[in-house]
Amino acid sequence: MHMQFPSPRTETATPTTQGESVYFSRSTDNLPEAKPSEEVVLKNGDTYAMTVSAVKKTINGKEIRLLAYNGMLPGPRLRVQQGDEVTILLHNASDIETTLHPHGVRVDNAFDGVADVTQKTIKPGEDFSYKLRFPDAGLFWYHPHVRDDFQQESGLYANIRVEPRSSAKPAKKSAEEYLFIDDISLDANGLTPFFQAFTNYALMGRFGETMMVNWKTDYTLSAQEGEIKRLYITNSANTRTFRLTLPGAKIKLVGSDGGLYERETFVDELTIAPTERYIVDVFFPKAGSYTLLHSTPISQYKLGDVTVSAGSTDAVQQKEFETLHVQSDVTQEMAPLHALVSKSPDKELRLDLDMGMGGMNHQMMMGTDGDKIEWEDTMPGMNRMMTSENTVWKIIDAQTGKANMDIAWTFQQGDLVKIRLYNDPRGAHPMQHPIHFHGQRFVVLSTNGVENTNLVWKDTTLVPSGDTVDLLVEMSNPGTWMAHCHIAEHLHSGMMFEYTVQAKK
Ligand code: C2O
Ligand code: CU
Repeated sequence: MHMQFPSPRTETATPTTQGESVYFSRSTDNLPEAKPSEEVVLKNGDTYAMTVSAVKKTINGKEIRLLAYNGMLPGPRLRVQQGDEVTILLHNASDIETTLHPHGVRVDNAFDGVADVTQKTIKPGEDFSYKLRFPDAGLFWYHPHVRDDFQQESGLYANIRVEPRSSAKPAKKSAEEYLFIDDISLDANGLTPFFQAFTNYALMGRFGETMMVNWKTDYTLSAQEGEIKRLYITNSANTRTFRLTLPGAKIKLVGSDGGLYERETFVDELTIAPTERYIVDVFFPKAGSYTLLHSTPISQYKLGDVTVSAGSTDAVQQKEFETLHVQSDVTQEMAPLHALVSKSPDKELRLDLDMGMGGMNHQMMMGTDGDKIEWEDTMPGMNRMMTSENTVWKIIDAQTGKANMDIAWTFQQGDLVKIRLYNDPRGAHPMQHPIHFHGQRFVVLSTNGVENTNLVWKDTTLVPSGDTVDLLVEMSNPGTWMAHCHIAEHLHSGMMFEYTVQAKK
C-alpha cells in the first residue's frame, strides 16, 4: 500500500538504533517471580497496603517482565461489603508513574485515580492513599489510569467484589470462581515493545496472540457432576472482545457490572468487551471434560479446561438452577427507568476516527470480516504504524459539533440523562467501542430502537459498528469525571471527554 502519514512519529520512523530506551524496560534481571492472586477480605475502616513493582513470569517458555500489585498476577482480589469504606495505601516501587482507578465503583471524585484529572500521578517512590467507599454491590476491578495500554497489558489489575449487604444466603465460597480473560502480545523478548512517549497499535488496539485466564495459558477448573459454579468474569484485554462458550454446560446469566439483572436468562454464549463484567451460573450435567472457548465467526481459541468428576446431582440444587429468578428489588428499582425509553435523548454522541490521511480511501482501512465487531487484527502492519501521534479517535457531540476534551457537559446531581451513542459505520475505520462512564452508573434502555426489557446497572457498554445505543445515566455522584472508550489505545488516541456533576445544594 502506498501511503503518506502526516506525522513523522510513526513506529517505522523511530530509529531502532536508539535501543531499548525509547521503549519501557523489558529486562527481567533481579526481578522476583510473580505470585498467583490471593483474596483479601477487608472490613469497614480497614487499611490495606499495596505496592506496585516489576515482577517476572514465564509464559509459553519465555521469561517476561511484568508489573504487579503486591507481587501477584492478577493483583489481590479485594472482598468488601456494600456500604463499607476502606483505605488502600498505594506505594509505587516501580520505575514508572502510576495511579489506581477503582473501575465502576461510585467513589468520591478525589479517589477516582485518573492522572491529571482527579490526582497527580504517583511517581516512582511515592505513595497515595485511596479512601474507597462501596455504595453498590457488584463485580468491579482496579487498574492504573496512566498509560493504561502498557500498565494493564503488564498485569496491573484485579477484582473488587462488593457483597450485597442484604445477602440472605451467602453463596458457598467453593462454588465461586473469578476469571480475568485477557490476551497479550509477545515477541522473543517479552511483551511486544511499548514506546515510552506514545501509544502504538492505535488503529484497532493491541491484539495479543496469547490467550490467558488469570494469567494462565492452561487454565483449569474442576467441578463435580451436577455442581453449579458461579463465575465472575472480567475482560481485561486492551482491545479484544471475547465471545465465550462452554459446550455441554448450561449457562445462566445472572448479573453484570453493577449488580443483578431484573431477570435471569439462559444463554449459549457471552460477548464481553474490554472492562465489562458478567456473572453467570454454570451447571455441569455430567462427568467429563468441558472446554471454555473464545469462539467468533472467524476464529476459535481454547481458554481453559473444566474437569468434572463423577458425583450425584443434587435435585434441589438442579431445580434451583433450572428456575429463572426474578429479582424483585431490581425490577422495582428499574421500573421508573423503563418508563423513560421513549423520551428523546438529552445528548447525542457520534463515534468516529480522524486520521488526517488526506486522499486515503476509507475502504482500505476497514477490516475484512464485515462483522459489527472486529474480532481480530486483520491489518497488523498498518495497525502497528498507527500511533497516538497520528491517529485521533473521536467522540463527537452531535448537538455542538465539539469533540473529545472540548466536550464539557455539566449536569446536576439527581439528573437522569438520556445519552444516545451512535457508532458511525461510514467512518474511516468502523469498529466497536466499549464506552465507559466514570463515577456514575447507567442502564442500556435500547439498542437500534429496540427496548431492552431486562435491565442491569452498567458502567460500560459495547457499541458495535453501525449501532445506536441509548443509555440512561444516573448523575448521582458529584465531581468532574471521565467518559471514554475502554480500548486502551483509543483512550490514548483522544477518545475521551470530561463531564461535571454539580452537587445538589
Ligand atoms: Cu477502567 Cu477510565 O477506566
Ligand atoms: Cu474505541
